[in-house]
Amino acid sequence: MRDQLAKIRAEALAAFQGAETSGGLEALRVKYLGKKGELTGLLKQMGRLSPEERPQMGQLANEVRAALERALEESSKKLEAAALELRLRAEAVDVTIPGRPVSMGHQHPMNIALEELKDIFIGMGFTVMDGPEVELAELNFDRLNAEEGHPSRDWSDTFYFDEDSRVMLRSQTSPMQVRAMDTMPLPIRIVAPGRVYRKDEVDATHSPMFHQVEGMVIDKGVTMADLKGTLSAVAEKLFGQGTVTRFRPHHFPFTEPSCEMDVQCHKCGGAGCPTCKGEGWIELLGAGMVHPRVLEMSGIDPEVYSGWAFGMGLERTALRRFKIDDMRLIFENDVRFLEQF
Ligand code: PHE
Repeated sequence: MRDQLAKIRAEALAAFQGAETSGGLEALRVKYLGKKGELTGLLKQMGRLSPEERPQMGQLANEVRAALERALEESSKKLEAAALELRLRAEAVDVTIPGRPVSMGHQHPMNIALEELKDIFIGMGFTVMDGPEVELAELNFDRLNAEEGHPSRDWSDTFYFDEDSRVMLRSQTSPMQVRAMDTMPLPIRIVAPGRVYRKDEVDATHSPMFHQVEGMVIDKGVTMADLKGTLSAVAEKLFGQGTVTRFRPHHFPFTEPSCEMDVQCHKCGGAGCPTCKGEGWIELLGAGMVHPRVLEMSGIDPEVYSGWAFGMGLERTALRRFKIDDMRLIFENDVRFLEQF
């Protein structure tokens, strides 16, 4: 029996060590240490031994069992470690591979120009105001002194929502003047940027949707000199020192007197070129002293208060600001163009 125990021990130890999978190892455990295994089988024959031999064999058998269990445990750990190693290798991530570059978004030149404009006006004490693009004709026209029958109210020029021509896509940001007078305490100093809509075909200088920045000042003793001084200072801040502006007489229903402000062409410096259509100047905004009737309709006494207002084309401003010579580039959204600013 001593020999048999030694044989089982040697065989089992070798087998455990040679096991290649945990499944195989488990089968070997059953084979040697299981209830019907070889060691148990041998122990069942202990009864045949003499009373003196029995305890000795018992002790030896226990030693063998303990040795086998230790070897089993060791092999099992070795297999687990090997399996883990294999998995780690398979799932390895090479952290040294360079990443794919993520392309970053970029501010549109129109937005950059608008942010700069807002900063300049805020620095001068103006408040930035926001208003609806769907507007009442009453505010877009009537309250701005453009009465029934005024050419700009025509269906061929304006997007209306109803037969009665009462609700429309605003054709200018000027209704913001009325909204300011209706909601703000005097004195008023606001700018209001936003989209406006007109029934124009798309070409190099027209689009049915474009952007304006409205501005309005109402206080006691405000004159045309304030208008010219403020708008010239804004042009210099935005376009650079020495920027030349000029004011031409014009007509708007809601200002009197009215004017337009031009800046000298950045391409030709005033000599005349394709960018300024040979004019030497680029028209930037319409402006004027707020018409007394407009003040009256908003409950402001024109004998006490006066004001000025302007409406600036934002596309043109951005073109001039960044020396771009074609407005279509502004709307095409070609990344190669946009990335330059
Ligand atoms: N609303 C005018 C336009 O769209 C511009 C303007 C605004 C003129 C304010 C005078 C005063 O052309």
